[in-house]
Amino acid sequence: MDPKPFALPSRKPEILEFLKNRRSNMSKFMTGPGPSEEQLNEMLMIAARVPDHRKLSPWRFIIFKDDARQKIGAHIGSLFEKQNPDMPIDRVLFEAQRFLRAPLVVGVVSSPVDCARGTPEWEQRLSSAIVCYNLCLAAQAHGFGAQWLTEWYSYEQTFCAEIGVTTPEQVTGFIYIGTAGAPSLPRPRPKLEPLITHYS
Ligand SMILES: Cc1cc2nc3c(=O)[nH]c(=O)nc-3n(C[C@H](O)[C@H](O)[C@H](O)COP(=O)(O)O)c2cc1C
Repeated sequence: MDPKPFALPSRKPEILEFLKNRRSNMSKFMTGPGPSEEQLNEMLMIAARVPDHRKLSPWRFIIFKDDARQKIGAHIGSLFEKQNPDMPIDRVLFEAQRFLRAPLVVGVVSSPVDCARGTPEWEQRLSSAIVCYNLCLAAQAHGFGAQWLTEWYSYEQTFCAEIGVTTPEQVTGFIYIGTAGAPSLPRPRPKLEPLITHYS
């Protein structure tokens, strides 16, 4: 339980500015250092502070850092090689090095609870998506770069089994976190007008 109630909302210009200009940071440009243990714990705490129908916490985290990134990379590389035997070795190596792009990768796993009787599975999956987004925001608010990736391996059963993700669980995303090595260029944003209707 929180020690005190959340204050009434007030205007927060710095947060508005941050959200209006927010962009992901490409993992391929990330370097070290990554977050400290304390920073990571705070990021995870923020990530877990999301809307969650019936307080189910239908998600969990898997942390990849240090040598673990290389270890999971070896699995990705050999899976890729098995599925693409004709690919050149440098492409296999590229696949094996995916998790090495950032000093820290956090897997967010959607882990639905008792869907038949309680909160619809869809809502539980949505909650895990906001965990990913909140984690990106928390990392950036700490001054780190962050990018949400799934890539091909998130959908591979062999890979999921290796990291302990089994049905009905699903990988919602891998959040790559590190020092942003290059500013992100502007990305075109949709015109909102055609996306908005007014019910009358
Ligand atoms: C569920 C999900 C999966 C994504 N997976 C990938 C991916 O595998 N590869 C990729 O280049 N971008 C992926 N993205 C997109 C990036 O996270 C990000 O949105 C994009 O690079 C730039 O968007 P932004 O600057 O508005 O955050 C994914 C986004 C979402 C929501």
